This record gives sequence, structure tokens and C-alpha cells, in this order.
Amino acid sequence: MTHNGATLDDSARRGRLLQLVDAFRRRTVLVIGDLIADEFIVGEVARVSREAPVLILKYDTTQVVPGGAGNAAHNVAALGAHAALAGLVGTDAEGKRLLASFPRQVDRTRVVASARYQTPVKTRILAGGTHSAKQQVVRIDRETDWPLSQAISDTFAQRLVGALDRCDAIVLSDYGSGLVTPRLAVAVRRALKAAGRSVPVLLDTRYRLLDYRGLTTCTPNESEVEQALGVTIGDNPAALETAGRRLLAATRSRAVLITRGSRGMALFEPRRTTVHVPIVGSDEVADVTGAGDTVIATFALALAAGATFAEAMHLANYAGGIVVMKRGTATVSARELADAVRGGIA
Ligand SMILES: Nc1ncnc2c1ncn2[C@@H]1O[C@H](COP(=O)(O)OP(=O)(O)OP(=O)(O)O)[C@@H](O)[C@H]1O
Ligand SMILES: [Mg+2]
Repeated sequence: MTHNGATLDDSARRGRLLQLVDAFRRRTVLVIGDLIADEFIVGEVARVSREAPVLILKYDTTQVVPGGAGNAAHNVAALGAHAALAGLVGTDAEGKRLLASFPRQVDRTRVVASARYQTPVKTRILAGGTHSAKQQVVRIDRETDWPLSQAISDTFAQRLVGALDRCDAIVLSDYGSGLVTPRLAVAVRRALKAAGRSVPVLLDTRYRLLDYRGLTTCTPNESEVEQALGVTIGDNPAALETAGRRLLAATRSRAVLITRGSRGMALFEPRRTTVHVPIVGSDEVADVTGAGDTVIATFALALAAGATFAEAMHLANYAGGIVVMKRGTATVSARELADAVRGGIA
């Protein structure tokens, strides 16, 4: 089996992907976006309440991990690269805990802490025993200051573009706060152009896909695409193809990567045939939370390392396949990614 062309091609392809992963540690990705504290409160099921038909949990632990743009930056760092993070937190206890939850490798000097801003928190209450799997019971969201005014976003953008030095890719992570706006994206592009730098700028946006133009690429999930275009894709390949091409035209980007959950991914580039990849290694899906952040972090790093869009997609697809096998808001290491490329989870 080792002598046929397909196998040789395959080993060359894997070799090339491994080279790219190896180059990650010399790259820096700047992530600009909405910082969210992902809080996990874990308790053990004690009994059923007499006050109401609900469970009583015996409190065990509280853990805070970076969510939103923070999760994307965390994933960049986990992949062995340098991450720089720009965003907004409150000076409240939640903001302090969020900032403290990052590993050292994430440069937080561009994170603005404001006394007038309340740090957004998504609290998941998990119930379970010490030896049984934990299950989410309820989620509580605190994002009371969203949407932010355009004035706040403009001030933030002004400060930011003065500090765009030294990065190999930029990720805009817009979870809907109004901090990352099409205007901010234009300011970033102008600053890069003025400095004569060609750095890929990637976009992940919940609600405003069609408002951003001329960025390098974007990574919407299928439901974001359906919402933006007012179409239904589901299992229909023709609808997917039309949607991808429409997005490419509307956003004027060089590539559109549509993530499709358990259906894998599709990559659209002008004048090229669409590339489809199925998911890898995910027969044991533990938690899909934050998989999109892992995908854009890997996609950005791969492009920063010189990958083609298709190569970057393959690496992002491996990373997505790994991260959904982990519980909670998780990350993937360069080593895990390399193992997957070598065939460990395929
Ligand atoms: N159920 C699943 N089984 C296997 N892989 C999955 C599953 N869900 C997600 N993935 C992997 O994660 C990638 C991104 O997932 P998805 O399309 O759900 O992104 P998303 O909705 O943006 O995620 P997020 O919740 O972080 O915003 C997929 O392309 C795939 O690689
Ligand atoms: Mg997403």
C-alpha cells in the first residue's frame, strides 16, 4: 500500500501540514474582540428540594475560563504561538478573575479595564457526582452593558490602531457587543495599509456578517450564514454552494470558511472549486462549546505561518475535531494537532 501515488500524496500533504504546525511557535496573532468570562459552578446532586421540584446541589467548585475573543486568544497560546489580546473588561471582580485566568503567553496589555463597564459573564451550573459525568443544568448570562455605543468602539479603535505593531495575523471576534464594528475593521485595515504590512485579517461575527467588507476571510457557522442571507441550508449541497458564493461576493473577502458542526466545513474561494471536509475523529463528542474559537485560532495561525486557505482549513478541521472531544471551553495543543495530522484521530 505504500507505493501507490495516493499514499505518497497523502504523506506529502501531512508533512506539509506538520511543517506549518511547527512554525506556529514563531508567530503572533492579535485577537481583537468581545471578552466574556465563562464561569462553571459545579455541585454534587444532594437531593430534591421541598420548595420546588428542583435539584439541590452541594457546592463544589467555581472555575472561570476565558470565553469569546478570550477563548480564541487562549487557543492561539495553547497552540504554542504568541497571542496578543485587545478588548474591554470591567474593573469588577469578574473582570479581574477573567484577566487572571489567561496563561502567561497571552499578552493582555491591550485589554482596557473600565470602571464603567460590567464584565460579561456566562455562568453554567453543572450538576454531577465526583465520579459521574457532569451535566449542565442551567446557564445565566450577564451582559448588561451590551450594546456599547459607537463612541466607545471608536475610542477603543483609535487606541488600538496606534499599537498594531508586530503580529502575523489579526482575528476580529465579534460576539455582538458593538466593540468590534465594521468601522473598527476599516480602521485596522487602513493602519495596516499605511504601515505597508500585509497581514491576514480574519472575522468571526455573530450578527453582522454582511456589514464587513474586504477582510481576508471569515468563518461563520451554518446558522449564522442562514440568518445573514435569509436562507435554509441544512443538508442541501446546492443551497450551501449558492450561500458560500453569495457570501464571498457580498463580503469581498478572499475566502469564506463555513463551519457546519457535525457536517464538517466548506471552503469557498473565488474562481476555485469549493472544498468540503468531513469532521475527523469525533465519535465521542463531549462539548461543542467554543469550537468556533478553536477553528478561527487555528485557521489564523496557519495563514500566519504561510498556509494556503485549504491547508489552513484542514488544520482548523483537525483542531475542531479534537476540541469537541473535551469538556467545557477547551483548547488544543500543537502536539495534539500534530498527532491528529499524523493520523492519531483521523
Ligand atoms: N457535533 C460535532 N461533531 C464533530 N465535530 C464538531 C461538532 N460540532 C462542531 N464540530 C467541529 O467544530 C467546528 C466548528 O463547529 P461549529 O460549526 O459548531 O462552530 P460554531 O457554531 O461557530 O461554534 P461556537 O459555539 O464556538 O460559536 C466544526 O467545523 C467541526 O470541526
Ligand atoms: Mg461561532
